Amino acid sequence: MNITFSKIAVPAQGVVVVGVAEGGAGGAKLGPAAAKLDKQTRGALSRAMKAAEFTGKREKTLTLVVPAGTKLSRILLVGLGSLKFLDAVAAERIGAVIYDAVAKDPSMVVILEGTGAADNALLAAHLAGGIRLKSYRFAKYRTKEDKDAKPKLKSVAVQCEYPADAKKRYAAVAAVVDGVFFTRDVVTEPPNIIYPESFVARAKELTKDGVKVEALGEAAMTKLGMGALLGVGQGSERESQLLILRWDGAKDKSAAPLAIVGKGVTFDSGGISLKPGAGMWDMKWDMGGAGVVVGLMRALARRKAPVNVVGLCGLVENMPDAKAQRPGDIVTSMSGQTIEVLNTDAEGRLVLADVLWYAQQRFKPKAIVDLATLTGAIIQALSEHYAGIFSNNDDLSAKLIAAGQAVSERLWRLPMGDEYDRDIKSPVADMKNIGGGRAGSITAAQFLQRFIKDVPWAHLDIAGVVWNEKGTALAPGGSTGYGVRLLNRFIADNYER
Ligand code: BES
Ligand code: MN
Ligand code: ZN
Repeated sequence: MNITFSKIAVPAQGVVVVGVAEGGAGGAKLGPAAAKLDKQTRGALSRAMKAAEFTGKREKTLTLVVPAGTKLSRILLVGLGSLKFLDAVAAERIGAVIYDAVAKDPSMVVILEGTGAADNALLAAHLAGGIRLKSYRFAKYRTKEDKDAKPKLKSVAVQCEYPADAKKRYAAVAAVVDGVFFTRDVVTEPPNIIYPESFVARAKELTKDGVKVEALGEAAMTKLGMGALLGVGQGSERESQLLILRWDGAKDKSAAPLAIVGKGVTFDSGGISLKPGAGMWDMKWDMGGAGVVVGLMRALARRKAPVNVVGLCGLVENMPDAKAQRPGDIVTSMSGQTIEVLNTDAEGRLVLADVLWYAQQRFKPKAIVDLATLTGAIIQALSEHYAGIFSNNDDLSAKLIAAGQAVSERLWRLPMGDEYDRDIKSPVADMKNIGGGRAGSITAAQFLQRFIKDVPWAHLDIAGVVWNEKGTALAPGGSTGYGVRLLNRFIADNYER
């Protein structure tokens, strides 16, 4: 999609979208361009707004088809809501609404006016970002498709008061959208295409963005003593991988990085503790955490973020097989701690245990954030509206929650503590990999914490938010890319410069 920014000049033909603020005496407030269109159509705009009770409420739309007095094919009014509350994420959501209304047209002009000098460029850039976020499609495996069902939108001209600034702002927004799309792509790929080694191959595309890409195979991980991760991959024909991505954008390249760790189970059958058949296909997106890591690295690299970040993905396929690990097996993690594997379907924590340990040993990070589709229990607790956050550090946790709030990828903190940790005591090993069945997301987090030394750490359980069949405000149905915008914002607000 080609997006350009220019000064406001109402076009003579085609589709024009005009943002209309809420205000005045409870009604809509037309900016100069909208007022000009109203005049040109001899008041058709005002009459239509009145008849449809369109007051400029945020995300509400009103369409005028072939308005008399013009050669336009359509005028789409879109509500901006109260300008006082119009922020970047609100602009993105408005962009997404515009996309849905105009996707079948090849091109459109969007006019954003009256927002005030300080915000105009930022809002225009994010509005454009929202259009792109919602336009995501994954059609590579379709060999036939109804032509009429296919979106046609190719070019978007955003007209605003400060187009040069908007264009600059948009460069950073577009980098993040690129990252989100990369995440959505890898997460959506089927599990016969994306497996540990092919995930690594896909991640190597990031070298073009300036990211350093490195991967360890099973021989190297065996040497490191990663018995917990390797046990999970043991029943798979595919070789397990540890993917390491580095973006050293800070002035001081040797400054301690931030570490972002992702669960990358490319397919989770449950292993010998096999999952039921219905819905098992969802487990292709059990690498959603790793998907966020690669998308985030793309976003940071493409916007040349002045920060050092290392991304690590534990990539395994969890399969039942004669060689697979059994319920009851005891494995030794890289940390030296032993784990009784009572349920081979609680595999994500086993993978993360070794990756978290490795991340701390090798990189001495100033903080660690992990993302994982770790538990079904988090979906019971929070549904699709929030991801769960667990942390040993109030400050880190507050910063992540604030970033999530700002980009509308919300987090809700759940408690941790010894009361819960007791639940994973084992009679024969240092711990077992499942709790007693209650508060399953918390016992999973307690398990992870046993592999954290004294570094600020947060664990995001994203099982409920990685995939959304109906779609969200900024994503069509399927993979959402949740986490990329959140961590990008968290890093931008707290670690850059
Ligand atoms: N990948 C699943 C968690 C999951 C479930 C993610 C549904 C997305 C949607 C994880 O590996 C798993 O199987 N967890 C078990 C843990 C249990 C055996 C303690 C679960 O949540 O049932
Ligand atoms: Mn599982
Ligand atoms: Zn899993």
